[in-house]
Amino acid sequence: METAPQKLEMFYEGKAKKLYATSDPDLVICYFKDDATAFNAKKRGTIEDKGVINNRMSELFFRLLEGQGVKTHFVRRLNEREMLCKRLEIIPVETVVRNIVAGSMAKRLGLEEGRELPSPVVEYYYKSDPLDDPLIYPEHAIMFGWASAGEIEAIRSLALNVNDILRRFLDERGIILVDFKLEFGRHHGEVLLGDEICPDTCRFWDKASRRKLDKDRFRRDLGDVEEAYQEMLRRVES
Ligand code: TMP
Repeated sequence: METAPQKLEMFYEGKAKKLYATSDPDLVICYFKDDATAFNAKKRGTIEDKGVINNRMSELFFRLLEGQGVKTHFVRRLNEREMLCKRLEIIPVETVVRNIVAGSMAKRLGLEEGRELPSPVVEYYYKSDPLDDPLIYPEHAIMFGWASAGEIEAIRSLALNVNDILRRFLDERGIILVDFKLEFGRHHGEVLLGDEICPDTCRFWDKASRRKLDKDRFRRDLGDVEEAYQEMLRRVES
């Protein structure tokens, strides 16, 4: 067993995770909570063992991506709810990749959910709770200094690469990757994929039945939320 750096003070608490400093200034410990929120925390609840599932699933996806050359903040999983990660200076831009029309895209454009897009669409949102994460043009991020032009280019190409890798992996397991959100950050000048990849941050539909196996079950009060998270973990572990 490798020795983990010592866990120090909590320096950030988000809606789903807590971040702790460690004795190594380059590393942080990410703790996954069971708290679930939607619509910028206007809806709140708990999804039992969500933290355990999201930690494990993120580990699996980060390992898969690292194996295919995508650099991420993942170092290793420490226990059921904690992951050791590289410390990032988070770029305040949330990147969404969509393969199928759903969620806010369906609502904003008056489209029916489920329509397949001819090719993936990349969207950017400004990470700001007071503003409810507004949709932006990538030019806004560059103009306002949230990311450089080179970083936006790197983010777009990384996001599309992640989409290709995850889509293929999930397709083999009978899952449609509808859309997902990624966050990136800087670590010693390099752009790394951060945050988590799990049913909170992706839309997963069963290929055969089109049943939703993600956080939309919580957002839309569809029931069987825990069961859907467990089913997704079973699929990605298979
Ligand atoms: P949207 O259709 O609501 O814009 O969501 C697109 C994708 O991003 C979906 O897979 C869920 C994920 N997402 C987050 O991870 N965090 C968020 O705050 C929101 C709104 C969406």
